[in-house]
Amino acid sequence: LIGDASRGEEAFRQCRGCHQVGPGAENRVGPHLNGIFGRRAGSIEGFDYSDGMDRAHADGMVWTIERLDAYLENPRALVSGTRMSFRGIKDAQERHDVMAYLRRYSAS
Ligand code: HEM
Repeated sequence: LIGDASRGEEAFRQCRGCHQVGPGAENRVGPHLNGIFGRRAGSIEGFDYSDGMDRAHADGMVWTIERLDAYLENPRALVSGTRMSFRGIKDAQERHDVMAYLRRYSAS
């Protein structure tokens, strides 16, 4: 699947209540999402992650496309006990659109 970044920007509205991305992005309810691709899970200094996300970090989990896709589809299925209270995006195309948008703010 190929994502469409401008549709992803629209779809990212369901994330904006908790996350910022782009220049000047800061942590809010959730951590900022700049550089998310290739970023180690639970690695933003000063953000208070759940025990589940701390465990994923300790296990060395890195946000690849596959992992991000799984987390966005069903957060709790990938990271048990995650604090991200978001039901997930069921539509695969929509997940890929959001990932294409996030990729604008990632080096990898
Ligand atoms: C964590 C993406 C919606 C709250 C994360 C992480 C990603 C992410 C990639 C892991 C960050 C890291 O490891 O540093 C998204 C996207 C969303 C979305 C793309 C929309 C499709 C939401 C919403 C909320 C939220 C709506 C609040 C209701 C959080 C919180 C965490 C988190 C609190 C930390 C989780 C933990 O410590 O277990 N999100 N998120 N997110 N998100 Fe979201």
